[in-house]
Amino acid sequence: MKETILVEHLEKVFYSQNDMEIIALTDMNLRVPENEFLCILGPSGCGKSTLLRIIAGLEKASSGRVFYNGREHTKPCREIGMVFQSYSLMPWLNVLDNIALGLEFAGVSKPERMAIAREYLDMIGMSNFGKAFPYELSGGMQQRVAIARALANNPDVLLMDEPFGALDAYTRIIMQKELLRIWEQRKKTIIFVTHSVDEAVYLADRIILMSGNPGRIKKEIAITIPRVRERSNPRYGELTSELLALLEGA
Ligand SMILES: Nc1ncnc2c1ncn2[C@@H]1O[C@H](COP(=O)(O)OP(=O)(O)O)[C@@H](O)[C@H]1O
Ligand SMILES: [Mg+2]
Repeated sequence: MKETILVEHLEKVFYSQNDMEIIALTDMNLRVPENEFLCILGPSGCGKSTLLRIIAGLEKASSGRVFYNGREHTKPCREIGMVFQSYSLMPWLNVLDNIALGLEFAGVSKPERMAIAREYLDMIGMSNFGKAFPYELSGGMQQRVAIARALANNPDVLLMDEPFGALDAYTRIIMQKELLRIWEQRKKTIIFVTHSVDEAVYLADRIILMSGNPGRIKKEIAITIPRVRERSNPRYGELTSELLALLEGA
């Protein structure tokens, strides 16, 4: 299968205030085939966000390289979209204009971008909030808008950094289902960071488990349970327990 993202010998070192070296990532190697739903699971501080930011081209690697469709990738581009851990909406734009922002940059006409923005507004269950401003919304609603904005751009690769962390349990399950539906329909490659074992087992074709200090890949597990996955499936429970045990030692 064609690989969409390739990460080779990636290393990232930060320097703290007192010049101590923080090795955020060491010798990361990752091959993400086209249309894969990859979940990255790992404890806080193990370098998950740093990895996504480098793949997105938002942060420079200390050494090693990232390739997108066979070409070295170092700068943000439209084909690779990102949903950040904290909702990053433009406070002066209403919800619809926030969702349509990337489309405006891409030169899509106003009627067309508003139609697309409305479609995604409906998808996130916020049809009545198009004219609302970010400050009028709860954290979970703002995050849903941020997700809609990323999806509206229709990127080929979607990098998602704990996107559902701020959602209530019910909305989270709805969004997981919707994301799978979009991924299946639109043939995207998704790299999804989470620290929820349940979420990773529900979503992923493959889970990469990371450990910290220094950040690296600890284990890789393919999830072959057919979708739509039932949490009552015994295999679901076994995988969840196995991963929780691994995470405890990470
Ligand atoms: N800009 C930065 N400057 C210094 N240290 C950083 C910076 N960003 C991340 N780090 C450090 O790198 C490590 C990995 O961080 P991060 O990628 O945010 O982890 P995660 O997303 O898995 O919680 C942590 O030790 C963190 O403190
Ligand atoms: Mg993080």
